[in-house]
Amino acid sequence: KKIVVLVSGSGSNLQAIIDACERQQIDGNVVAVMSNKADVFALERARLANIPSHVISHLDYSSRERFDKAVAKQIDDYQPDLIILAGYMRILTADFVNHYAGKMLNIHPSLLPKYPGLHTHHRAIEAGDKEHGTTVHFVTPELDGGPIILQAKVPIFIDDEEQDVIERVLAQEHQIYPMVVKWFCCDRLKMLNGKAYLDNQEI
Ligand code: GRF
Repeated sequence: KKIVVLVSGSGSNLQAIIDACERQQIDGNVVAVMSNKADVFALERARLANIPSHVISHLDYSSRERFDKAVAKQIDDYQPDLIILAGYMRILTADFVNHYAGKMLNIHPSLLPKYPGLHTHHRAIEAGDKEHGTTVHFVTPELDGGPIILQAKVPIFIDDEEQDVIERVLAQEHQIYPMVVKWFCCDRLKMLNGKAYLDNQEI
């Protein structure tokens, strides 16, 4: 399967997926990386793995629609089977999402439906939550609202700094995201009528 990964930052989840493809745990290849920001470490990871990358800056477009169209055009050049959002910090237009219905995954650092949106770790700590985590889901037009595929939980300890929680969550993300991608690439995972199925069982 051909995979395109969208990033905006450090790309540690991108790396986990590249590594799983190289180990042949995932029956697929990352064929391209797209970033809306230049000079992010994710692009260096792509370069080191010999994967083509493209920077399309949202700042060069007058509207979200035009930007998303340009990104989609670049993605579609690769005719991918799967689009992976890995720390991609843009809100997506419904047209963009619908164009990839059932073929686009996101990882969000909270136990959805808790804390959609930004600053999830901070919000969980401030709320006094004892546990936190991360969620892999299919992407639908509702922000962080698509059907949930897999979650991992981590504890929040009383003397944790935000960075401790971020790192604990990332370690789990690097486990669960490649696992879900593996399921997708061997056709075990589907989205139908807004619901996620693994081995034909609703999740
Ligand atoms: C991850 O925590 C992911 O859940 C969120 O952004 C972060 C990206 O980290 N969407 P990285 O760029 O993969 O290192």
